[in-house]
Amino acid sequence: MMLTVHRVYLSAVLKLILLITTLCTLSDCYDPLDPNGNISVTFDIYQRMENGYLARVTLENHHQYRHVDKPGWKLGWTWANKEVIWSMSGAIATDRGDCSSYSGSQMPHSCKKDPIIVDISPDVSQNRSDHCCRGGRLSARAVDSFNSLSSFELEVRNLEEKENSLGQAPNNVTFMAPGPGYTCSSFLTSDPSVSLDFGGQRQVPVLRTWKSTCTYSSFLANKSPVCCVSFSTFYNPIITPCRNCTCGGCREANKNSLSCIRPGDPLGGSNDEKNIIECTDHMCPIRVHWHFKNNYMNQWRIKLTISNYNFNRNYSNWNVLVQHPGFNQKATTYSFNSTKLSTLGIQDGVALFWGIDYYNNELLHSDKDRVGSVTTEILLEKDENSFTLQNGWTFPRRIYFNGENCDMPLPDTFPMLPNGSSSLRPTSHVFTLSLIYLLLVQLVLL
Ligand SMILES: *[C@@H]1O[C@H](CO)[C@@H](O)[C@H](O)[C@H]1NC(C)=O
Ligand SMILES: *[C@@H]1O[C@H](CO)[C@@H](O)[C@H](O)[C@H]1NC(C)=O
Ligand SMILES: *[C@@H]1O[C@H](CO)[C@@H](O)[C@H](O)[C@H]1NC(C)=O
Ligand SMILES: *[C@@H]1O[C@H](CO)[C@@H](O)[C@H](O)[C@H]1NC(C)=O
Ligand SMILES: *[C@@H]1O[C@H](CO)[C@@H](O)[C@H](O)[C@H]1NC(C)=O
Ligand SMILES: *[C@@H]1O[C@H](CO)[C@@H](O)[C@H](O)[C@H]1NC(C)=O
Ligand SMILES: *[C@@H]1O[C@H](CO)[C@@H](O)[C@H](O)[C@H]1NC(C)=O
Repeated sequence: MMLTVHRVYLSAVLKLILLITTLCTLSDCYDPLDPNGNISVTFDIYQRMENGYLARVTLENHHQYRHVDKPGWKLGWTWANKEVIWSMSGAIATDRGDCSSYSGSQMPHSCKKDPIIVDISPDVSQNRSDHCCRGGRLSARAVDSFNSLSSFELEVRNLEEKENSLGQAPNNVTFMAPGPGYTCSSFLTSDPSVSLDFGGQRQVPVLRTWKSTCTYSSFLANKSPVCCVSFSTFYNPIITPCRNCTCGGCREANKNSLSCIRPGDPLGGSNDEKNIIECTDHMCPIRVHWHFKNNYMNQWRIKLTISNYNFNRNYSNWNVLVQHPGFNQKATTYSFNSTKLSTLGIQDGVALFWGIDYYNNELLHSDKDRVGSVTTEILLEKDENSFTLQNGWTFPRRIYFNGENCDMPLPDTFPMLPNGSSSLRPTSHVFTLSLIYLLLVQLVLL
């Protein structure tokens, strides 16, 4: 009776939390696990030229666990006046625009008032610059900080004719990754960036620095969740599935069979960028499964599996974040790379997982016969004071895939503890062996 009351109460509280977090997404709350996450765009003018200047633009991804994947970022702005991009290295403008007023042998790189700039691929050898040419990718900072920034250089000409002027900052900065989701502030004049010379003895500030900050909103990026979470345990054969229709499209699916396909269906028209997912009860492209596999005396073991139900997409450099109090203890991860994130104001441990290069850092798409997946086991130390099998303690509080919050099952569907706790005593090898021994002895005696 007590237990039932407790469960109902817990479930109500958790439903409320779920409601609040849903509202948060709608009203664009910041991410408490990565409060300083943003992408900054720094426009450094470092040399004056005749009627123009040379500048370096640097993109820095300050997100701990959200990356920009291929086909890569697209940066745009609107020139304040009649500026043109005379030349560029480390990136290209996608459109030359109308340069008909230029007649010399050399034409500007782009005359567009609102150029869109994209990165070039790593294997292009021409027109490179420092920190360039990552094919538009920006790694997440906690995963690979070296590759979390990218920069390119440009020569700007045709400034308004004013003595000594360096012109005005461009307006309307846009950042696509490559889809929507980011909103950029306008360029503001900030302290000039400084580089060091003479082995660090001399500081060399640039002539002028403009900065814009682009922040992410998953509400702008996705109409519905992109992933869901399911649970299972060694003590209950019933699996807690993802919630039905989590990622939407259930009703439409019956009418329009294109939004999901069943095994055996033809994979027609799969060349567009749209998600083509396998029909499941949850309808999500990504499922994260948390299996509580073993309960030892001083440790417990989890099997974590990430499955890709999207027929049309491989997720390269994927990452998964798990918030669970158990990660305050030592944890050993076998088949993923991992790190603990320090999070102010959150008592639970937060662990970030990503794939191992050339082994499982690419989460391949499903094909007709199997779902693409990556998996690892995690061995966690126990803190005797907090570890418990009660009230769903062993299940994660929050899971993100590539920075997107995954939908969790409701607490009243968590795997139930069986009656009688004897079967749940931690197993040590000695204990298991003696059980088997007793069993054998009994069999022999019979
Ligand atoms: C952007 O990120 C940087 C680095 O984490 C941080 O210092 C800055 O305050 C952030 N800006 C905004 C507007 O959040
Ligand atoms: C690339 O470099 C070549 C010479 O190295 C130059 O002629 C060309 O204008 C450059 N392209 C751009 C887009 O700047
Ligand atoms: C910025 O974009 C808005 C909407 O696209 C447009 O109305 C406005 O004129 C642009 N501002 C400048 C300075 O180009
Ligand atoms: C979810 O869908 C499955 C199969 O369509 C159904 O059996 C099950 O009852 C549904 N669960 C809920 C909570 O609606
Ligand atoms: C995903 O990767 C596999 C194996 O590398 C490749 O054959 C397939 O074309 C890729 N699919 C997409 C949509 O990129
Ligand atoms: C992932 O782990 C492997 C093996 O431990 C290591 O070589 C590699 O550098 C790690 N990758 C990243 C991106 O940290
Ligand atoms: C567990 O015990 C309760 C009450 O003692 C009983 O109603 C329930 O059926 C039992 N469940 C199982 C799985 O035995």
